Amino acid sequence: MGNQVAFVYSSGREQMHVKIAPSILSADHGNMTSDAVRAQSWGADWLHVDIMDGKFAPNLTFGPGLVKAIRPKVSIPLDCHLMLAEPEKYVEKFLEAGADLVTVHAEAITPSSIELIQQSVRKYGKKLGIAFRPATPVSDFDFDGVDCSMVLVMSVNPGFSGQKFMPEILPKLQKVSKMFGSQTNKHVEIEVDGGVDTSNAKLLVEHGATVLVAGNSVLGQPDQERAFQELRNIVGSADA
Ligand code: DX5
Ligand code: ZN
Repeated sequence: MGNQVAFVYSSGREQMHVKIAPSILSADHGNMTSDAVRAQSWGADWLHVDIMDGKFAPNLTFGPGLVKAIRPKVSIPLDCHLMLAEPEKYVEKFLEAGADLVTVHAEAITPSSIELIQQSVRKYGKKLGIAFRPATPVSDFDFDGVDCSMVLVMSVNPGFSGQKFMPEILPKLQKVSKMFGSQTNKHVEIEVDGGVDTSNAKLLVEHGATVLVAGNSVLGQPDQERAFQELRNIVGSADA
C-alpha cells in the first residue's frame, strides 16, 4: 500500500477527507483483532464497534473487553456506537477500555443522563457523538449545552449488519449537514451507519456524510481488502 494522503472530496459543503469506518460487527468473530489490524492496514480511518444490550437493540454484541483487546493492536480511533438503553451506566467502562469516541442514542438519554455522560467524556479527554434511529427526527434532541463531536444518522434500524439501506434518511442527513456544516466554527463529523455500500456512498457524501460505516459491504465480503478499496475509490483514492 502506498503512502496515505488526505483525499479531498468536494461535496459543496467544504473540501474534506471522507472517512471510512469498517464495522467489526461484520468481522470474523473468531479473529476480531486481526480483522481490525487488517482494516487499518488498508487505510481504514476509524474502526466502528457496535455495542448492543438486547434492550435498546434486538441483539447482543460486545462489551468493553473487546475494546480493550483491540486498543493496543491498532492506532486508528475506536468509534464505539452504544446501542444501549442506559448508556450512562456504561460509557465510562468503554472510555476506560480505550474508546476514542462514544456515541449514545438520542432516544436513550435524558438531560440528566447526558450531563453524566459528558462528565465522563471530559474526564477521559475523549469525544461524544449523538445517534438517531431512522425514525427519530433530529429536532427531537436539544443540542444546546451538548459538546457533540459527531452526529450519527442511522440508515437501518439498530440491530444487525447486512440490512437494506433506507433512503428516507437522506433529508435528515441533509438537515444535519446544514445544522453542523462548515458555517459553524467547530467541526462536527456526520456519520451514516447501515447498508452503506458502493451504490450509495457518493450520494451520502453529497448529502453531507463525512464518515461512512461499512459492515457487510467490507468486512462481510470474501475479499475484504478489495471491497474496502472499491468503497474508497467511490469517495476518493487514498493513494497518491
Ligand atoms: C447496525 C449497526 C451497524 C452495522 C452496519 O445496528 O449499528 O453499525 O454494523 O452494518 P452494515 O454496514 O452491514 O449495515
Ligand atoms: Zn453502528
